[in-house]
Order: sequence, then structure tokens, then C-alpha cells
Amino acid sequence: MSQKLALLGGLPVRTRPFTSWPIFGKTEEHRLLRTLRSGKWGRLQGPEVAEFENRFAALHGCEHGIAVVNGTVSLRIALLAAGICAEDEVIIPPYTFFSTASAVIEANAVPVFADIDLDTFNLDPQAVEAVITPRTRAIIPVHFAGQPADMKAIMAIARKRKLIVIEDAAHAHGASCWNKPAGSFGHIASFSFQSSKNMTSGEGGILTTNDDALAESCRSIQNCGRIPTGAWYEHHLISGNYRLGEFQGAVLNAQLDRLTAQTKTRDRNGQYLATKLSKLPGIHPQKRPAFCTRHSYHLFMLRIDGQVFGAPRAAAIRALQAEGIPCSAGYGFSLQHQPMFRNKAFGPFLPKASARLDYSKVRCPNSDLICREQCVWFEQSLFLGARADMDDIARAFEKGFENRDALNAWCKANV
Ligand SMILES: Cc1ncc(COP(=O)(O)O)c(C=O)c1O
Repeated sequence: MSQKLALLGGLPVRTRPFTSWPIFGKTEEHRLLRTLRSGKWGRLQGPEVAEFENRFAALHGCEHGIAVVNGTVSLRIALLAAGICAEDEVIIPPYTFFSTASAVIEANAVPVFADIDLDTFNLDPQAVEAVITPRTRAIIPVHFAGQPADMKAIMAIARKRKLIVIEDAAHAHGASCWNKPAGSFGHIASFSFQSSKNMTSGEGGILTTNDDALAESCRSIQNCGRIPTGAWYEHHLISGNYRLGEFQGAVLNAQLDRLTAQTKTRDRNGQYLATKLSKLPGIHPQKRPAFCTRHSYHLFMLRIDGQVFGAPRAAAIRALQAEGIPCSAGYGFSLQHQPMFRNKAFGPFLPKASARLDYSKVRCPNSDLICREQCVWFEQSLFLGARADMDDIARAFEKGFENRDALNAWCKANV
């Protein structure tokens, strides 16, 4: 006997909240107070950011970590440090946060979109090959949701075409493929510590690399163009003050203590839920390639094929929410359809290239389909609880499926 949907007046699957975010404790308090009382609040005076840079880089298989104010600036610094010049082309996926593209434009370079794979939601290496031109200088694969992109295929293309690879690892703290950490495959990688991320200091970012010259260049750019042997008021290149503060460093050191255990919990729960949900008709959780050895599940993502499931995404989301399961549709449209691209609102950037660019001609059908019709997102903190939490999410989906006719009728009347 199927139970009545909460959306239609039945009892919800869940009334208890899921794990809330951020998680913090005595270690944050201790480090923050110690920093406060030390009076050393700036990155250049205190020990916290320096300690964090070393620890985070080591955990991600890198020699160097350069902490900065956020994960947008870090992408731009990576592009500048890599020597990307005006009007160079940089290949990015259309299914990512705005910053992956805006950082390219703010480096005065041209974002070129290559579609994602419909099953993994990550950059499709074949689509990358198809958009390479003589102007291409770099690729930014995004480890979307915390599942690493196919870095072996992308690095092979980059080697063949002599391109720089910047991993956008904003979602991928602690993730790995082939048992090697995300953030250690490309020439350089960028992480974010904004509030929603798997470890956070409210705002913040870091660059990781094994390339000494790139690291030196990033360090200089984040510190007003200074160089280690120069005088304080000596500035060697266009740059700014992008340094992370010591309070954020203190919080991040404490957050890092928990990262590996939390990532293992998210990965275990995410895999369990994916296995359960993939048994339902029309539900396609993000496909995990064999090379993914740890998914950090910044998001748990799935595609819902409304025709097969029996009710469209909009109805399923409303039903899940009513059952006490927080979820959303994620991005409403692919990045190339953002008003900034439509209107070429690039400010002072790309004065020459802008005239020849026409983003309305970009075709990324996989990204468009999941944005428009199919994608459902669940945030990372849901995956920090017990397995029973996953059973509740699965049960809410099953209820939706069992009641698909009623759900469809509700949708026709209400959405
Ligand atoms: C894929 C991706 N790249 C970059 C960023 C930018 O990070 P931040 O918000 O720290 O600037 C985000 C942030 O949400 C992101 O999701």
C-alpha cells in the first residue's frame, strides 16, 4: 500500500533536520582566540595561514599552497601566473558556477565552452578536443560536485597541444582519482572555502601546485607583486592584495583536521544512496567512473528523466521538499546563456575579441538538458549523518514514484 504524499496532505517521511553546516568546535575556538590574543592578525605576521598552506597542499599531493581571499580570485591568479595573455582562449565547461568563466574574462581571456558528459556531469574530453583552436592556451576542468574529471584524458590532450591545465577543485577537497588527490593532476589547482564548501572559513581559497615557478608567481600576485628578495615598497607586476587573513587561517586549520573523516562519510553515504536510487525507473545518479577513488560529494547530483519516472522534475522536487528532504534544481541554465554572455557585458575586458564573439551560437546540449529539465542537487551536509538519513531520501523518492500519477496531476494543476 503506497502512502499519501506529504505534498498532498500525507505524513512526511522526515521531520528531523539533517546535519547542519558549518560544523565547528573547540579547535576553532582555541585557534581563533589564540590568534586574537596574539595580535598577529595579518597573513604576513602570524603562523596560521602559513601552517594551513603547508598542510592543505601536502594533503592534496602538492609542494606548494598559496592561500587567497576566495576561489574566484584564485582562478584568475592561476591564469595570470600561467602567462595567459589578452584574447587567449581558455576552455571551460558550461555546467559550473559563474566564477569559472568570470575569472577567465577578468584575466582578459576568452572563455570557450566544451560540453559535459551527460552521465558524469564533467567536462567531456572529446568535446574539449573539438573546440581547440590555434588561440587555445588553457583548459579549466571542474571536478563538479566533488567527482574528479577525467584528468588522464585531459592531461593527454594538454600535453599534445601544449596547453596549461588549471583544475577548478572548488568542490573537490579531499577527492581523488586513481588514488591520487584532485588538485595534483594539472599544472595548478584552485579550491574554495566559501560558506557552503566542504571545509569553510566563510570566504577563502587556495592554489596548489608542484611547479616552483608557478608557485612563486602566484605568491607574488597575491602579495601586491612583491618578490622575496625585494624591498617592501617594490612591486614587480600587476597584482593586488589577495592575502587570506589569520582568523580564516585559524578556522581552516581546525576544519582541515576533520576533512578526511568527513569526506569518507560523505563518500560512503553518497555511494549507498546512488546504489539505492539507481534502482528507480528514470533516476540516474551522477555516474562514477572506475578511476574515481574518492568523491567528496560537495553535491549529490542526479538526473531525473520525467518521462520514465512518471512525473517531471519540478513536481519531484516539490514532493521531496514536502517529505522533509531539502533539494533544488541547481543552475537554471548553462553558463553561456547567462545575461553577461548574452550581452557581452565584459566591462573593460576583451575589447577586441568581444566584437567577434557570439555566445548565442554555442551548443552544449547535455548541459542545457540537465539545467532545463533533469538535474536535482542535494547539499553536502546531508551526507554527514547516518545511513538512515540516506534511507529517508531514498524512501521519499520511492513515495514519489509510487504516487507518480497523483504527482503528475498535481503538477499539471500547480506548476
Ligand atoms: C565550481 C566553482 N568554481 C569557483 C567557485 C568560486 O569560489 P568562491 O565562491 O570562493 O569565489 C565556486 C564557488 O562557489 C564554484 O562552485
